[in-house]
Amino acid sequence: MAPLVWFITGANAGFGLVLANLALSKGDTVVATARSLSKFPESLQKNPKADLVETEVTASATSITELIDAAATKHGRIDVLVNNAGFGHMGAVEEVSDEEARYQFDVNFFGVLNFTRAVIPHMRKQKSGVIVQLSSGVGILGPHGGPIYSASKFAVEGLSESMALELKPFGIRVHIIEPGIFRTDFLKPISQGQNVSRHLEGYADLEGMLSGMHGKQPGNAELGIQRLYEVVTGTGMAVGLEDQLRFPLGSDCYSMLEAKIKMLNETAEKGKSIAQSTDY
Ligand SMILES: *[C@@H]1O[C@H](CO)[C@@H](O)[C@H](O)[C@H]1NC(C)=O
Ligand SMILES: *[C@@H]1O[C@H](CO)[C@@H](O)[C@H](O)[C@H]1NC(C)=O
Ligand SMILES: *[C@@H]1O[C@H](CO)[C@@H](O)[C@H](O)[C@H]1NC(C)=O
Repeated sequence: MAPLVWFITGANAGFGLVLANLALSKGDTVVATARSLSKFPESLQKNPKADLVETEVTASATSITELIDAAATKHGRIDVLVNNAGFGHMGAVEEVSDEEARYQFDVNFFGVLNFTRAVIPHMRKQKSGVIVQLSSGVGILGPHGGPIYSASKFAVEGLSESMALELKPFGIRVHIIEPGIFRTDFLKPISQGQNVSRHLEGYADLEGMLSGMHGKQPGNAELGIQRLYEVVTGTGMAVGLEDQLRFPLGSDCYSMLEAKIKMLNETAEKGKSIAQSTDY
């Protein structure tokens, strides 16, 4: 297989960094973004195949388009866009401020939309490309806790499910990766009291629950990223799955998928006569 050109947002830590390292180890080129170049580990800073770019994912659409255009010009193409940057804001609906809610959507949804919009013209011209959206188990099933985070991932899922249909005729594939709880730095800010709303009496102590999980998460990020790489390249366990949209990762996420299927099945069974009673 010819080496790929990847564009990965938030590639200085967590899944993004593990993916950047894996792609580089395969001889691929990686354009990696972070909020500050100093956040990249030295191994990436020294790797000539890593093109490090400083940006906020919430930057203006114009500057994001410029970054993507510059990367495509420099490397000749962009084969894979991975919208990886994101975070989870914790807090009940009543606890979350408008500012917190909008920032969650700016990073997890509108940032993703702007990068996606910027890369599509290049992939359309190439008549090929893969767009990978890092969603979450909470993009499948609304959990008890973190409704704004879940809403931002549902938004990404709806965007991507619909977009996959319109991009398919142009040879562009869309995949949604849905990790459960993996052992990355994802819970770290939460364990440090960031990305958590003011706490109101009576609501679950999510911060306490999630902080306790930091470092003990069941998911292995190296294995998760190995699967993601296989999905993009149609190799290993993902041979023949090029047309599959969603890839839940982790047995905790698989259980969320099963719970959602059960919920939808009951909706369909119990809601059928009402649903079919309202046509002309
Ligand atoms: C996305 O692009 C729009 C303009 O198209 C811009 O207003 C917005 O600030 C950009 N970023 C986010 C996170 O919304
Ligand atoms: C949320 O966490 C992210 C990731 O650590 C951090 O960059 C961001 O500043 C935090 N946002 C708020 C509003 O605390
Ligand atoms: C719901 O699940 C049952 C048991 O598996 C199955 O027989 C039925 O067809 C399902 N309903 C729908 C609408 O898929």
